[in-house]
Amino acid sequence: MATRLPPPLTIGALFPLGVPDNMLRLQIPLPERYADATLDDLASRIDAAKRTLGERVFILGHHYQRDEVMRWADARGDSFRLSVLAQQHPEADYIVFCGVHFMAESADILTDEHQKVILPDLNAGCSMADMADLDEVEEAWEALAKTTDISKVIPITYMNSSAALKAFVGEHGGAVCTSTNAKAVLEWALSLGDRADDGAGGKQVLFFPDQHLGRNTGHQLGFTEADMRLWNPRLERGGLSEADVKDATFLLWKGHCSVHQRFRPEHVAEFRAQHPDGIVVVHPECAHDVCEVADQVGSTDYIIKAVEAAPPGAVIGVGTEIHLVNRLNDETPDKTVVSLDPLVCPCSTMFRIDAQHLCWVLEGLVEGRVVNQITVDPETAAWARVALDRMLSIT
Ligand code: 13P
Ligand code: SF4
Repeated sequence: MATRLPPPLTIGALFPLGVPDNMLRLQIPLPERYADATLDDLASRIDAAKRTLGERVFILGHHYQRDEVMRWADARGDSFRLSVLAQQHPEADYIVFCGVHFMAESADILTDEHQKVILPDLNAGCSMADMADLDEVEEAWEALAKTTDISKVIPITYMNSSAALKAFVGEHGGAVCTSTNAKAVLEWALSLGDRADDGAGGKQVLFFPDQHLGRNTGHQLGFTEADMRLWNPRLERGGLSEADVKDATFLLWKGHCSVHQRFRPEHVAEFRAQHPDGIVVVHPECAHDVCEVADQVGSTDYIIKAVEAAPPGAVIGVGTEIHLVNRLNDETPDKTVVSLDPLVCPCSTMFRIDAQHLCWVLEGLVEGRVVNQITVDPETAAWARVALDRMLSIT
């Protein structure tokens, strides 16, 4: 009897209700003149295209980008700084964002109407940002409304989230935060509760999508684990009892960064055993037990400043993405900068942006072809801007 093969797995079969907006972005394969080009050839073509475009193009590079890309960046920065920089360059018709999708969306929201934001590879998403989508957050919000006084719950979203989630928090009285300003934004959110004239209770924050940034910042503000609960979007009422939901000051979304979650306290112990005078600096997307044993905790920009401030000869163990760690080591020859995890892998989505894709978008612009433009629809953009502007006014 002939064996019947299972039907081929189609997108329709995988997602019968439609492909979630944040799950599938299709990057078309590049023509051979890009895919097969050498790095030297690409470099001279990128250089020529950039010169031709002049001030009409502004290239932004997040600290986790590869060197072959970063060398062309007109400005480098963390996600916060880059979104502000995009806003400060209205003369550029094209903002080429060498980073990930949510960063390009934020740039589109903040820049002028005539400016086009381009992401060189559409598959450069962020796995953490994809851990919370609008449907899940709306469901969580409804579940919370049935359990606690929703008027006193302030939604806060990390910059690493889709524009739709930024719009959700804008519309519901909340704000965006970054790893640089999470403390100030959470302080602001909780101070709104203080100002409520109907007593204590109900001053709560729903924080998404990164549980670790939320937890680390809560601790920084003097709260303890007892004030925090993990909200699992896959479970009814987040997997929490009614009492837990009512009691928690922080409801932390069960999301994480797969790059930063790899760092463990054992890595810090090992580094300290080898370098008793070494300095340990980690990103707040690392788990709390790692941040607790680090000397300093801060965003990518903060980590750079911490390395600059370290004395000559210092050995610095860093808990963040490997491209930044290696660049810091190369650019600071009088200090030694190493990754705390010897096996750490790069951020696979940041890594998608390479010289081929950068060359492709720039040569397209020279030929008058805009590829990979990232646009946020006007209604989403308007509410997301409310949330971003709140963040900017708080910090
Ligand atoms: P920064 O805001 O520190 O740049 O972090 C962004 C990010 O994606 C870290 O994983
Ligand atoms: Fe997202 Fe983590 Fe990559 Fe940052 S390092 S872009 S949080 S997956």
